[in-house]
Amino acid sequence: MSLDDVIRENWATRFGFILAAVGSAVGLGNIWRFPFQVGQEGGAAFLLIYLLFILIIGLPAMLVEFSIGRRTELSPVGALREFGGDAWKYIGGLFMLIAFLIMSYYSVVAGWVVRYFVGSLTGGYAEDPEAYFLTVAAGTDALLFHAIFMAATIAIVALGVQRGIELAAKAMVPALVVLMVAVAVYAATLPGAGEAYAYYLSPDFGVIADDWQSIIPSAAGQAFFTLSLGMGIMITYASYLAEDRNLAEDSAIIIGLDTGIAFLAGLVVFPILFAATIGPADPGAGAIFVALAGAFAEIRFGLVLGAVFFFAFALGALTSAISLMEVVVSTVIDEFGVDRIPATLAIGGGMFVLGAPVALDGDLVLIDLYDQLAAEILLVTGSILLMVLVAWIAHDRALDEIQRGVGDIGSLGQIWIWLVRVPVLLALIATLVLAIMGYYEFLTGPFAEWLAG
Ligand code: PFF
Repeated sequence: MSLDDVIRENWATRFGFILAAVGSAVGLGNIWRFPFQVGQEGGAAFLLIYLLFILIIGLPAMLVEFSIGRRTELSPVGALREFGGDAWKYIGGLFMLIAFLIMSYYSVVAGWVVRYFVGSLTGGYAEDPEAYFLTVAAGTDALLFHAIFMAATIAIVALGVQRGIELAAKAMVPALVVLMVAVAVYAATLPGAGEAYAYYLSPDFGVIADDWQSIIPSAAGQAFFTLSLGMGIMITYASYLAEDRNLAEDSAIIIGLDTGIAFLAGLVVFPILFAATIGPADPGAGAIFVALAGAFAEIRFGLVLGAVFFFAFALGALTSAISLMEVVVSTVIDEFGVDRIPATLAIGGGMFVLGAPVALDGDLVLIDLYDQLAAEILLVTGSILLMVLVAWIAHDRALDEIQRGVGDIGSLGQIWIWLVRVPVLLALIATLVLAIMGYYEFLTGPFAEWLAG
């Protein structure tokens, strides 16, 4: 019998919980996925819709997950069983699969980041950034760095909640923020910064009118992805909360920090791209790496800046990866009574295997296959299900839970429930339909072509 069977670990401090949740939220989603989505979907127009999703849907969705987690003190499978009844445990099972899928390719991209950190130190990408990316993105090197990153995540998760996750977040999240601010300040001094800010910050409503069918699902997917919502991470993290705190306030702090850091990443990435006269709209998962490396190779002190940037980036990815692995590990510990260390090793190994095809695909099609399915379809589906559970089935317990640590919130609680019940759910269902249509196009278009070879 393991310690976890007897005593469930808790966060040592409130600050520790908030930093771990911020650590989960801030990652590749903010620094890689966010700018590449902004670039692909038309700059500030996308930013505006994304911010709306964060505020109107992200905040209630995070509260939903926190209230389920703290109420049940269980990881997703058990938590949903307790909150909704036996059939809901399968949804918890779905969350594990989503986490498994996301971590598999997340680790591949994080491996690229680690490799680019090394490349900044050695000057590896200075000669020919495009050719360098091809050697980094796919093949044995990609597999090796995928393995290194996965191993680092396994090591921290195996140490447990306080000694592993909380300590890592306390060290890494502040370091990430300081480094990103430093790079953003430097980026502001680059030529072309003004033009870059204009692209990033003044929305063109014509773009929204023309492209809403792809902007909306991308913005929603990005909102869930970046806030780590829709697959039980925030349920798991809130399950380690021992005392009563104001969950709404915690959610607002976490969301504010995550959005602030994504916004900051845009302030870093766009001026750097414009300074190197590289267009931001180059689509695709790899473009941001090629473009940034090209820019770092050209601008003053670029390689030093690159090293700092990719180091911060890798820290962000690590604290997020920890949370992705922890959801699955905690479920296996809770449900099957397996010890933490063997559970972590087996799960991390499985995630590595699922990600291996992505690390070997030089066409970067598999990464889109995994990422679009996970972010735009599965995370949105997961959130819809959680919201149905909390707003339509277990609303009394959810409201009761939210008021713990806050006091009577009066009619605000009813407003929250009704907001989730109708407008938020309808918006999410519409988004999901658009996302499925978009994915179908991808499957019958680029993916079919890739398969045909
Ligand atoms: N939120 C993290 C990021 O933005 O990088 C990682 C992540 C965690 C993504 C959980 C998706 C997710 F469901």
